[in-house]
Amino acid sequence: MKVLIVGSGGREHAIAWKIAQSKKVDKIYCAPGNAGIAGIAECVPIGAMEFEKLADFAQENEIGLTVVGMDAPLVGGIVDVFEARGLRVFGPRKNAAVIEGSKVFSKDLMKRYGIPTAAYEMFDNASAAIDYLKTSQYPIVVKADGLALGKGALICNNFEEAKEAVRTLMLDKEFGEAGSQIVIEEFLVGREVSVLCFCDGTTIKPMTSAQDHKRAKDGDQGLNTGGMGTFSPSPFYTRELDEYCVKHIYQPTMDAMKKEGRDFVGVLFVGLILPEKGPQVLEYNARFGDPETQVVLPRMKNDIVEVFEACIDGTLDKIDLEFEDNAAVCVILASDGYPEKYEKGFAIAGLDTFKNKKDYFCFHAGSKFNDEGVLVTNGGRVLGVTALGKNLIEARANAYRATEWVDFENKYMRNDIGKAIDEVE
Ligand code: AMP
Ligand code: GLY
Repeated sequence: MKVLIVGSGGREHAIAWKIAQSKKVDKIYCAPGNAGIAGIAECVPIGAMEFEKLADFAQENEIGLTVVGMDAPLVGGIVDVFEARGLRVFGPRKNAAVIEGSKVFSKDLMKRYGIPTAAYEMFDNASAAIDYLKTSQYPIVVKADGLALGKGALICNNFEEAKEAVRTLMLDKEFGEAGSQIVIEEFLVGREVSVLCFCDGTTIKPMTSAQDHKRAKDGDQGLNTGGMGTFSPSPFYTRELDEYCVKHIYQPTMDAMKKEGRDFVGVLFVGLILPEKGPQVLEYNARFGDPETQVVLPRMKNDIVEVFEACIDGTLDKIDLEFEDNAAVCVILASDGYPEKYEKGFAIAGLDTFKNKKDYFCFHAGSKFNDEGVLVTNGGRVLGVTALGKNLIEARANAYRATEWVDFENKYMRNDIGKAIDEVE
């Protein structure tokens, strides 16, 4: 079968790498892809939001399965366009992807179905929001309703900061229409864990857990980013917690979506926080996480294409998801200055060292071949270096060792990815 992947980040590189191992696949395309993905797939110069062109390509090239990695096309309805043409596609339809596309929708869903989440109020009017904030407890969290590249949640320590957050989102419209409605929610304290779940509309099966590091700098300082590194599994997400979450969060979410006529087929990413009062949902995403995927898929034993097909066909209950009893750590190599201003176009050296090493991976995010055919940096997050190990400590040592193999000007990384591991091992 031929497979088309839609997206261009490290997540899509990891998905492509995993699909390449499927017995069912003989050719992979990726639109638009990146320089790393080009090593295993044929990259096609069609943008992720060009739904009709992508569907034309899938029809003309007899693509048997399209896998959508990114949030914006899913929220925009790419799956509906493909299905209307009778094309097989993995991901939620527009009416289900809204679980990520609108925080007002997802918070309301959780409230109505008793799914644990931070207490909140929603506003579509800045002065009403500011009035509410005058008598609020601090810290508090102000969130844009819509997609904001993972940067739409602002933690505010006092009234002045919160007022500024409302101004940024609702009046200055820093994230455009995403900020025309906002959610103001209770600030929770606890560890965070990301759990990606396969869903077929009725059955939901969690994959192994992961933990992201969202802030740009060591010690969780600096601005929020798309993610600076991950580890899997999270030692804080125990088997008991998983069982609790299946019963009180994952399955109720599936059932709620079904009841609303919004059957969720695809990957539901549940962002959890674990305060003392028990796990609470911070956010839902309608897709694989980035860089969570770069530590979860290298540990997965199943043929991923069989799992994608089971989700589409409604037979996920027949699949046993299996993960290796090992650990993985991913360290993002970024361009210095990310997530603000940074330079690109610097030559990347050292990637040959990854060849033929089965426990080490270099997933590309922002890379390209320049006009001279040289591999250069082409984004804020450039590469994700993932390493496996028999446990988290070993995986972390391996990942940091592998970061030294790679060189480019302005290379920047956090040096404390997986520091939390030391508290348990
Ligand atoms: P979100 O986009 O909703 O996932 O939020 C991004 C990040 O902001 C989360 O990963 C948390 O670190 C933080 N955050 C969001 N909501 C809360 C909350 N209610 N309490 C504490 N931290 C939060
Ligand atoms: N790593 C967070 C996300 O993918 O949204």
